[in-house]
Amino acid sequence: MRALISALILGTTALMAAPVQADEISDGKRVYMTKTCLACHGRNGARAIMSYPVLAGQNEAYLLAQLEVIKSGDRLGSKDETTGHYFVQGMADIMHLLSEDDLKNVSAYLASLPPAKPEVLDPAPSDELLAEGAKVYKRLACRSCHGKEGERASNKAYPIIAGLDRDYLIRQMIDIRDKVRTDGNARLMFGVIKRADDEDIIAMATWLSQIDRNKE
Ligand code: HEC
Ligand code: HEC
Repeated sequence: MRALISALILGTTALMAAPVQADEISDGKRVYMTKTCLACHGRNGARAIMSYPVLAGQNEAYLLAQLEVIKSGDRLGSKDETTGHYFVQGMADIMHLLSEDDLKNVSAYLASLPPAKPEVLDPAPSDELLAEGAKVYKRLACRSCHGKEGERASNKAYPIIAGLDRDYLIRQMIDIRDKVRTDGNARLMFGVIKRADDEDIIAMATWLSQIDRNKE
């Protein structure tokens, strides 16, 4: 009888939990489609324009934390030399349109999506450069937080970095190394990333950008 009762209770909780999650995700999709996110981060968060980040399949807690610091202005990052504006400016300008619930739901939506396919680099990177990227990544012990191939994070609040846009990866590593991006958990990276020079960063970013998370 007790087992039956707990099975019933468990069953009811599961039934109650599922629609809430589904509602969050469908509301998050509405936010994504109507608050201009789509224009920069692309269909299903998987086809970003220029050197902007893809967001599909990223850790939910990390996404939410980034939305908070971009909204508050704590994460400004670096400026685009060709326009003189911060890369993130266009996004920062629209963040007042989002409520706390919008931030949560759009994070849940993006985290639920299948990861993007790796970008096609032109010219294709050489095997030597890819191997060098993997080697530097291993030498600097990045895997302790970002997984063997950047494909998972040791903590849900940390980002998955495999399969992101190469130029985005380069910019973030340089911004964090040079203490331009210092908000949130960025300081956890300071000790290791200072040991990477620009060439190391380019090699790691090229290698990471070509990892296909759909093949995990
Ligand atoms: C005008 C273009 C633009 C719009 C609109 C925009 N973003 Fe962004 N977003 C960016 C850029 C550029 C960055 C990276 C900034 C940098 O390089 O420092 C970014 C970064 C992010 C990040 C952090 C990703 C990471 O890996 O750290 C998240 C999450 C995000 N955007 C979500 C959104 C959501 C959700 C919306 C809609 C509410 C949105 N963005 C609208 C351009 C945009
Ligand atoms: C001690 C844990 C830790 C180690 C080791 C570490 N990282 Fe990170 N990394 C983080 C955290 C946490 C963040 C997110 C920072 C934030 O909250 O803004 C991050 C962010 C990043 C980002 C930006 C991701 C994005 O979507 O914007 C890149 C790229 C990155 N790390 C690459 C590396 C590389 C390459 C190494 C090795 C040289 C490395 N990390 C080592 C914890 C770590």
